[in-house]
Amino acid sequence: MNPQPSPDSPVLVTGAASGIGAACAAVIAASGRPVVLWDLDPAAVTEAGARLEAVASVPVLAAAVDVSKPELYAGALDAARSVVGPIGGFVHCAGVVDSTPMSRLSAEAWRRVLEVNLTAFGFLTAALIPDLTSQDGSSVVGIGSVNALVGQGAIPSYSASKAGVLGLVRSLAAELGPRGVRVNAVCPGYIATPMLSRSLEDTGRAERMAGLAMLKRVGRPRRSRASSGSFSAARPPSSPGARSWWMAA
Ligand SMILES: NC(=O)c1ccc[n+]([C@@H]2O[C@H](COP(=O)([O-])OP(=O)(O)OC[C@H]3O[C@@H](n4cnc5c(N)ncnc54)[C@H](O)[C@@H]3O)[C@@H](O)[C@H]2O)c1
Repeated sequence: MNPQPSPDSPVLVTGAASGIGAACAAVIAASGRPVVLWDLDPAAVTEAGARLEAVASVPVLAAAVDVSKPELYAGALDAARSVVGPIGGFVHCAGVVDSTPMSRLSAEAWRRVLEVNLTAFGFLTAALIPDLTSQDGSSVVGIGSVNALVGQGAIPSYSASKAGVLGLVRSLAAELGPRGVRVNAVCPGYIATPMLSRSLEDTGRAERMAGLAMLKRVGRPRRSRASSGSFSAARPPSSPGARSWWMAA
């Protein structure tokens, strides 16, 4: 049986100016797919786009978009489509963490984390459904976390948002799988990115994080891009709409 060719449609990566998102965008571009980079930080996303464009042989488009504002999606997606065409893949890497235990957490801070990590993932996927279902091999990847699966008292809003991503992925896979769109989540362990930089400066915390990992070390974004990036870059052997999530070290 001949393997089906990998799709070559453009992929939207949010949180693409930094860490895992930037690494995902690089692996997707290297696979031959145009990439649309969105991030909250205008200077950082412009710079990340320029860096990638210098080495990529595919179109690279960078834009400052706050994914916690669904009212921005239509205009920003139309701007992207007018350059690269309909979007065939989506990796939601935009994320924030708030290290406040539940006893001291404000409702506003709770909402902020949920809006960026979870709500944006759902509503952006919804905005992309016409694109995703109009072409072969489309896929969506949500970024969960090991903290969706294990208890960590310092980050309740983050843990709830990431557990929500796993539930949402199963629901989206049930809705979109029969329409030919794969939906998956990746649950990275601890990865050395700007999100963790403060924690990693504290030697004791860094050692505790490494101790919790199977490989007994904090990972690097290049490893986790190999999972999340390749989920959307290539067509895996599984059938469309596989209702799965998986762990990445
Ligand atoms: N680093 C880890 O150990 C780790 C572990 C598990 C999961 N994750 C998840 O991986 C994803 C990427 O995290 P990272 O470690 O690369 O962090 P990072 O801080 O390096 O990157 C996150 C990016 O998201 C962007 N962002 C934040 N709010 C946004 C908004 N409202 N709109 C658009 N962009 C926004 C930031 O500007 C930043 O560039 C996040 O969802 C995070 O929760 C990270």
